[in-house]
Amino acid sequence: MLEGKKLAVIGVGKLGEALVAGLCKNSGLTKGDIVGTVGRESSIERVESKLGIKVGLDNRAAVKGCDIVLLAVKPQNMDRILGELKDVLNPGQLIISVAASVTTTFVEERLTAGACVVRAMPNTPAIINAGMTGLCVGQNVSSDQRSMAESIFKCVGATVFVDESLMDAVTALSASGPAYLYVVVESLAEAGVKLGIPRETSTLLAAQTMYGASRMVLETKAHPALLKDTVTTPAGCTIDGLMELEEGKLRVTLIKAVVKAAERARELVNTQNSKKRD
Ligand SMILES: NC(=O)c1ccc[n+]([C@@H]2O[C@H](COP(=O)([O-])OP(=O)(O)OC[C@H]3O[C@@H](n4cnc5c(N)ncnc54)[C@H](OP(=O)(O)O)[C@@H]3O)[C@@H](O)[C@H]2O)c1
Repeated sequence: MLEGKKLAVIGVGKLGEALVAGLCKNSGLTKGDIVGTVGRESSIERVESKLGIKVGLDNRAAVKGCDIVLLAVKPQNMDRILGELKDVLNPGQLIISVAASVTTTFVEERLTAGACVVRAMPNTPAIINAGMTGLCVGQNVSSDQRSMAESIFKCVGATVFVDESLMDAVTALSASGPAYLYVVVESLAEAGVKLGIPRETSTLLAAQTMYGASRMVLETKAHPALLKDTVTTPAGCTIDGLMELEEGKLRVTLIKAVVKAAERARELVNTQNSKKRD
């Protein structure tokens, strides 16, 4: 579906890089089909040498002739970038925004009437084709464009369409989620170190265990509580570990972390700390 298409990525930062790297591997798009922009001249060489795509500072030039425009700048820069692009975008182009907190209406209102806008919330494991992307569509998006947006993110992992009212929750759960889980892996690895396991071995034990447990949830489709029960032998050691987790309020802490991040996600677009060009 993407072969022969041209893609412009406005803002090839951490997420933009992850997506471009994944797309170059799995989408049928070649490096020559993708152009990118950054905010500072000093970033150009770093991104070009890392990804092998053409990168510049001129957003208006980058989007010309492209079928798909992926906006991956900070939420607080979106208003300015949309104003800059408004008169060079044409109605046939598919605009995909990955900016947290920025609604499809926000984007549509700043572009010419009829703009086709998809809002996506991917995460950085996209770089190893293990991403998770929540998607929703604006009012002018055709079913072909919906499928095209989906196929972009399917190239770098799993996708799910949700109602737009849930996108801040998706942001807090699966886009921020890798950070929470790195803390969990790090902490489990520290526990191994405390018990005498060399750090490298301990990190492998922790990370592969999280990977295996996640795959069990995805592939068996069993409720996580049932899977937990299969590990918990009566009067065994796991129940003692679980009791410590309950005492430390792990569940409520994780729930509160996601709820707090969702609250923050709702207000990001209004934060006035936009980074200026060099
Ligand atoms: N990181 C994640 O895991 C994640 C997950 C889901 C969604 N998102 C969303 O993705 C977006 C980018 O996040 P990020 O973490 O990738 O941030 P980031 O690393 O700071 O990337 C932002 C990029 O935008 C560029 N930029 C700044 N001003 C620009 C301008 N005027 N024109 C063109 N490019 C400009 C920056 O260039 P310089 O490098 O030169 O400053 C940088 O490459 C945000 O809206 C965020 O909500 C991020």
